[in-house]
Amino acid sequence: MSELVFLKLGGSLITDKAKPLCARREVIASCAGAIAQALSSGTQLLLGHGSGSFGHPLAARYGTRGGVRSPSEWFGFAAVAHAARLLNVLVIGTLLEQGVPAFPIPASALAIARGGELRSLECRPLHEAWQAGLLPVTYGDVAFDDEWGGTIISTDQLFAFLAPRLRPHRIVLATDTDGVFDADPHRFPGAKRYQQIRAGECLAVLRQIGAASGPDVTGGMADKVRRMCELVRSMPGLRVQILSGHAPHVLAAAIMGRAPEAGTMIVP
Ligand code: IPE
Repeated sequence: MSELVFLKLGGSLITDKAKPLCARREVIASCAGAIAQALSSGTQLLLGHGSGSFGHPLAARYGTRGGVRSPSEWFGFAAVAHAARLLNVLVIGTLLEQGVPAFPIPASALAIARGGELRSLECRPLHEAWQAGLLPVTYGDVAFDDEWGGTIISTDQLFAFLAPRLRPHRIVLATDTDGVFDADPHRFPGAKRYQQIRAGECLAVLRQIGAASGPDVTGGMADKVRRMCELVRSMPGLRVQILSGHAPHVLAAAIMGRAPEAGTMIVP
């Protein structure tokens, strides 16, 4: 039976977070190559990607993450959805160019949140996509919210919601840095990488992690680590690996479960 893997391409990896609406097309292309390689080995994938300098600046301007009520906030909600979709179109287009039958699964159309957390997500299209031999591609998006009107749902939230339901073998989070560091490695070259984070020691690690650079409405690396530690604790056997997406061979190997030393592994 083929292994199911959730793979996220982080917004900091596939966009230049310092420049609004700036995609790193060559990085997206090299990740698409790694994905094609992993798929040809028989791995079953759910791909997700972040929003980086597409969704985050607009979401910050309109305060979308904290709720949507006024007409101007609803305008922002629509504008964030559009920006997130623009990046998704680029990612899907690049995968199709490399022969990968990528198919969009937008959370804004399928999910409902409550108080900023995911409450429901229609999973049928995902199963249908796999059944048809397609690669489902979801992404950080806006969602209607029962309490707040609307909000933002990150890819990490989508994965945390879907993991207990779909039971992936691995979750691989590809970022701009080679794993989790005790300070921002772009600003502090001496920053130390955690090779492994034990989910039980998550709090101590969270205190160390540097703040994200650029506007990040969904909490950056700290939120990612917190959610993934919770997940690993509740799903024994699941491994989460956070690593750089800049080396396509390592990324392909990690998707296939063959690069245990790369980046940071979150273990129970
Ligand atoms: C953010 O999603 C979604 C929007 C701001 C629209 P993510 O949290 O998954 O994206 P990145 O990886 O931080 O960019």
